[in-house]
Amino acid sequence: MTNDQTSTPSSSSSPGTASHRSIGIDAIAFAVPRAYVELADLAAARGVPPTKYIQGLGVVQMAVAHPDEDPVTLATEAARRCLMAAGRSPAEIGLCIVGTETAVDHSKPVSSYLHGLLGLPSACRVFETKHACFGGTAGLLNAVDWLAAGSARGRCALIVCTDIARYSVGTAGEPTQGAGAVAMLISENPRLLELEPGITGCFSQNVHDFWRPLYRKDALVDGQFSVQCYLDALAGAYAEWQRLSESSEPLVRTCYHVPYGKMARKAHQRRCQLDGMTDEAADKSFAVEVEPSLRVPSQVGNIYTGSLYLALLSLLYHQAAELSGKRIGLFSYGSGCAAEFFAGRVMPTAAAQIARAGVDTTLANRHRLDIPVYEELRKNDIHVDQRPSEMPSAAETGAALAMVDRSPRFNGIDNQERRIYTVA
Ligand code: HMG
Repeated sequence: MTNDQTSTPSSSSSPGTASHRSIGIDAIAFAVPRAYVELADLAAARGVPPTKYIQGLGVVQMAVAHPDEDPVTLATEAARRCLMAAGRSPAEIGLCIVGTETAVDHSKPVSSYLHGLLGLPSACRVFETKHACFGGTAGLLNAVDWLAAGSARGRCALIVCTDIARYSVGTAGEPTQGAGAVAMLISENPRLLELEPGITGCFSQNVHDFWRPLYRKDALVDGQFSVQCYLDALAGAYAEWQRLSESSEPLVRTCYHVPYGKMARKAHQRRCQLDGMTDEAADKSFAVEVEPSLRVPSQVGNIYTGSLYLALLSLLYHQAAELSGKRIGLFSYGSGCAAEFFAGRVMPTAAAQIARAGVDTTLANRHRLDIPVYEELRKNDIHVDQRPSEMPSAAETGAALAMVDRSPRFNGIDNQERRIYTVA
């Protein structure tokens, strides 16, 4: 292990009743498909002004997956990079949770594929969580409780949020698509962000704002209603968090779930209103407290479960040094709906740690798709999971490829409809 853990538990933190240990996010990394669409190109093809997508929604580019890229391959690549950034080996992982709402099988979880592909130990609890975009947060908070309860016994948790966000071509949702995965290592004495175990504000209700019936690849959404549900959930979760928070220390930044940048802006405006601020003060506050977290998401689009954590990665990538020791807020929203507001403290080691996330290279190593090529890819989406593999059956290749050095590709299904992953 090359982990030089120089951080110490923060004496000024106000841990919840669950534990007085310093627990949080030790490392973070992300993976995106190798192609993207410029929203200006999409706007031209749909006959709308580019400003509607770029300023109106706050999205500049959206990631698009090829047939050999799926939530398993994206999760594996993000997790591989996260372990490298943390200087940890798979043997140190005792809990692995994958949050996704675009799973590849109704029964076999993405986490099992990941377990095999990464070579995680057999004495490791592995499962998948689903609650629309909230699934990754469910995993993260579960991992924090696992550490706070003392179940980790020196090991870490690996949380991976992975999704491909699809709406039908030509719908209002189309410019808010995206694809990607964010992986986080959760540990004691974290080097990035110390969390506050036991202090989170929850809000849940049964609403039909966004859904995807079992037979569909593209999501259905009541767009304007979903915006309202998000804002109502924010108000509820924030009020509950304020009631529970034991500290009056301000939040100097807040990361929101980012289906598109404008939604985070609306969310921050609502919160400022609740705090009694004027619209002018709210706009100023947005520019300082939220905008840096939207830079990376604006180049990737909505990645559902990973969106909040891509915003966190963006914030730390741009400002970790100046935020050292400061408290920040996080708001997670999943349609249906479930939401949670919580807080964390940026560690003095965060700037050095986030520099290992390879943010610029990951975004630069992509190619731009023309709209006709993108549309052709989307036409074939529905058949992607049924494509016969050119490789030997899963039984012959073996389930565990244990490939921590390179990311796998989805190669199709064998004669018993088992998914085959190979190294490109
Ligand atoms: P729409 O009908 O295309 O857009 O739907 P609009 O007419 O509301 O316009 C959007 C914005 O662009 C507006 O700004 C316009 O004024 C502006 P706003 O008033 O909201 O501030 N605009 C322009 N700006 C500059 N120049 C122009 C111009 N024209 C208009 N020329 C909608 C937008 C988001 C509803 C649609 O894209 C959609 O349905 N998206 C999918 C649903 C979604 O993302 N909902 C967000 C909340 S729910 C959530 O976050 C959960 C989710 O991630 C799923 C999960 O949990 O799993 C989605």
